[in-house]
Amino acid sequence: MARRATPLIAGNWKLFKGPAEAASFCSALAARLGAAAGADVVVCPPHVSLAAAAAALAGSRVRVFAQNAAWQETGALTGEVSPAMLLEAGAVGTIVGHSERRQQFGDTDETVVRRAAHALEAGLDVIACVGELEAEREAGETGEVLRRQVGALAAALGPHERLTLAYEPVWAIGTGRTATPEQAQGAHALIRGLLDVPILYGGSVKPDNAAELLSRPDVDGALVGGASLDVESFAGICAAAGG
Ligand code: PGA
Repeated sequence: MARRATPLIAGNWKLFKGPAEAASFCSALAARLGAAAGADVVVCPPHVSLAAAAAALAGSRVRVFAQNAAWQETGALTGEVSPAMLLEAGAVGTIVGHSERRQQFGDTDETVVRRAAHALEAGLDVIACVGELEAEREAGETGEVLRRQVGALAAALGPHERLTLAYEPVWAIGTGRTATPEQAQGAHALIRGLLDVPILYGGSVKPDNAAELLSRPDVDGALVGGASLDVESFAGICAAAGG
């Protein structure tokens, strides 16, 4: 099975922290985390803050990922940023297919696959997000949704060594309603049966629920939104993961 030797804790800052704030946050985070290496730690700033974050984290064990990446290198794609540009700014990976991109910016299973495929080809690590809406869970459609979303990625990419999935039930994102460890484990086991790569859980992960979620056999790490914006709470989640 494709499991990680150490859990991956990724902080998705969303639309928070410009370059100056990113730099001071990253300096404080690197100092706070020190050299312990029980977890791999990643921060995902907005594009304009990637270079500042990467500079502040140089020499530390914290890596920088983007929040999205274009499916081609250059062209008439207003508002997009390509993998080569992200690499030049200091990112070594990217999130794709976050539910906020799918719901508010028109990403589909097809565009998420295109983004992921091109980012992997360009040398970036990729965290591809999947997850059901609340209405879909209530209608008993969670398995069907995950089979569709993960199936598209599996068919196009297979178990690529730089691909990680994030299971993020949409009803748990930013709501404080974390999936129970059993719900997370159930979804992760289903996903792993479709595509055997590491799988992060995301959705209201906090310092006080991280250890229990991470203890489940198919949970390989966490994608953290709100709680990644504060050094102490993000470091607390990294500590719960062993690092
Ligand atoms: P949250 O966000 O931790 O604030 O729920 C997670 C995410 O959207 O990646």
